[in-house]
Amino acid sequence: MVKVMVPATSANLGPGFDFLGLALDLYNTVSFTPADEWQVTAEGYSAATLTGRSDLLVCKALQRVFAEVGTELKGGVVHLENRIPPAGGLGTSAAAIVGGLAAANRYLGDPLSNDHLLALAVEIEGHPDNVAPAVFGGLVGVVRTPAQPYTYLKIPFPSELYVVLAVPDLRVSTAEARRLLPKEVPLAEAVFNLSRTGLLVGACYAGRIDLFRLAMEDALHQNRRAVLIPGFHRVVDAAYQEGALGVALSGSGPTIIAFAPENRRKAVGTGMVSVFNEEGIPAQWLSVAVNFDGFRFV
Ligand code: HSE
Repeated sequence: MVKVMVPATSANLGPGFDFLGLALDLYNTVSFTPADEWQVTAEGYSAATLTGRSDLLVCKALQRVFAEVGTELKGGVVHLENRIPPAGGLGTSAAAIVGGLAAANRYLGDPLSNDHLLALAVEIEGHPDNVAPAVFGGLVGVVRTPAQPYTYLKIPFPSELYVVLAVPDLRVSTAEARRLLPKEVPLAEAVFNLSRTGLLVGACYAGRIDLFRLAMEDALHQNRRAVLIPGFHRVVDAAYQEGALGVALSGSGPTIIAFAPENRRKAVGTGMVSVFNEEGIPAQWLSVAVNFDGFRFV
């Protein structure tokens, strides 16, 4: 049996829409051994709705690797341990897909490189910024190119920053959140995001966490998606008031990610949750470190 832990990911980080993603020290685990039919069991989040299914992304990903090396996988005994909140914005689809790909690849003796797994993950999931950090760890900038492998860069992430997540009890589908975005944007919005993305990447290299607040501003997607998340702007304001150094919609939401010094984590987390609660939305906050290594076998 192969067992793999796959980190949650937070895509975009504000201006880096469809480009940046960060891996988090928060995991879903996939255990796998081949069998003649599917026997899926699960614990943790969504366990009841996943148990007994054979149409899951993890199954598709397992089969995709077998097909890639020219064999067929009929089924498998699969156990899922889900610790990543499934509300949206933390890469649970990416974790399922990368978990399936990595487990199948390891079972077969690692015939595929991680670059190859990234390409297959993007083929299934669609968003390179969601899946690349789950494969490689840390802060990753990934460029979708017509030819593969995709070009990506691991960007040093300041080790003094902690992640604080506010997870509201709302569901936002990525497809729905993408439908809110226009096909074209004004040049001024493009320049706004280009300049902030450049500044954010540079701030990471220079260790300039003082630049994060400006560098995490976004004009392309967050305001347009905020209609799906009651209180979004007030949650962001509350996090800054409590000492956050940068705040963004995590992926396509509804989770909100803040970066904070260690001693401000609780204040930032409870501040964000209070605003959601004022909106009548139950929410939880959690603080996690950054994952720097991507998936790992256990
Ligand atoms: N970059 C993608 C988006 C990530 O924001 O739509 C999807 O989670």
